[in-house]
Amino acid sequence: MATERPFASSHIYRLSAYPKEVTLRDGARVVLKPMSPQDGEALQRFFLRIPADERYYMKDDVASPQVIQRWARELDYDRALPILAWVNDTVVADGTLHRTRAGARRHVGELRILVAPEYRSLGLGSTMIQELANIANENGLERLTLQAIADKEIAAIKAAEAIGFGQVAVLTGHGKDLDGHPRDIIILEMPLGEWFNWWVF
Ligand SMILES: CC(C)(COP(=O)(O)OP(=O)(O)OC[C@H]1O[C@@H](n2cnc3c(N)ncnc32)[C@H](O)[C@@H]1OP(=O)(O)O)[C@@H](O)C(=O)NCCC(=O)NCCS
Repeated sequence: MATERPFASSHIYRLSAYPKEVTLRDGARVVLKPMSPQDGEALQRFFLRIPADERYYMKDDVASPQVIQRWARELDYDRALPILAWVNDTVVADGTLHRTRAGARRHVGELRILVAPEYRSLGLGSTMIQELANIANENGLERLTLQAIADKEIAAIKAAEAIGFGQVAVLTGHGKDLDGHPRDIIILEMPLGEWFNWWVF
């Protein structure tokens, strides 16, 4: 089991707003917190409750205990900042802000969002996107992207567009469904800084 320890990148972002309680559309309350090294097992249980045909479209093999244990062990907010949504001891959503550690792409972040099926369509996905966009904006990132599988991840597109993302590109056939048929990947993008501040307030 992972032991509690300080980790290298715990102060990259200003995260004083967390833990933060939010109320969903049905009145349920969830607590948002940046992931800690000791959260690996709860995160693993969360991913195992996601239907296999959805896990198939993710960029990582999240059903693998080795993958999640490595994430928890090597947690590095500078590379990937995961915000987890909790109901008591259960993770019900995971949203991550990814960026390169250095170089030409450092000002751009990529968001990935996953909500447990029983907590969907309650505004949690939009809330997670908004939280991560706020963090990115406050910390000087200039642009955010989010990728979604066309005709499959429709809720992600809707939730991202509600926050201010726009569709900027289609990567034709860059995905394949479980039957091997090509699926397009839609790239959504949102500028931060002045535009974002205007959009939010
Ligand atoms: C995408 C996802 C995170 C959204 O989470 P969520 O908590 O349901 O999001 P929200 O409730 O904030 O908003 C989703 C919106 O999409 C709508 N929606 C859901 N399914 C839909 C569908 N098949 N067609 C059209 N709209 C749909 C919801 O009604 C809601 O709109 P509303 O706020 O106007 O009611 C969640 O569906 C999920 O985990 N999907 C699987 C993983 C995924 O696709 N991730 C995206 C890749 S980054």
